[in-house]
Amino acid sequence: MTATTPDRSRSTSTKISKSAQQQVIALLKDDHKRVKKAFREFEKADEQGDMESCAKLVKQVCDELEVHAKLEEELFYPQAREALKEEELIDEAEVEHKSLKRLIADLKAGSPDDPRWKASFTVLAEYVKHHVREEENEIFPQLEKAKLDWEGMLEALQTRKAELMKRKGMTSETAQASPHSKTSRSASRSRPH
Ligand SMILES: [Fe+2]
Ligand SMILES: [Fe+2]
Repeated sequence: MTATTPDRSRSTSTKISKSAQQQVIALLKDDHKRVKKAFREFEKADEQGDMESCAKLVKQVCDELEVHAKLEEELFYPQAREALKEEELIDEAEVEHKSLKRLIADLKAGSPDDPRWKASFTVLAEYVKHHVREEENEIFPQLEKAKLDWEGMLEALQTRKAELMKRKGMTSETAQASPHSKTSRSASRSRPH
């Protein structure tokens, strides 16, 4: 009378686990990419004296970075710290986040008329690029071999991200929509800095 279910779950668990790991890294890298793109668009808008677009891009970058930093601090770094041999990498990343958040707070409190507003954004861009390089070149590759609950982390990241974005009134469309996005791909190659 007792129905037995075929044991299908175990054979696929390694595969699921691997793709969850790739998805976690992809989620974080996509955030990085979007913010770096916004930095390039800011340079272009600034060259054109388009301050309205500059202000929009600053707001977009601040919102995205706040969500991203929270995700890493609450969910990603604690697990990475346990899995990594070099815990200092996470210490450094957390210290870098503090500096980034200070600049973000300055930008949110400041106004485009203040000459330091643009300077803060330029410094933010430099810090973020450095920080992202360390995450992508040092932390992520080391974690690829680590045994973590990637599926649990993926689910937690996705849920928390949606929650944080909703709280800020962001949607995935607004996160990607920016005034100079259509031309940025072709134009960005000629001006590497
Ligand atoms: Fe980070
Ligand atoms: Fe990151």
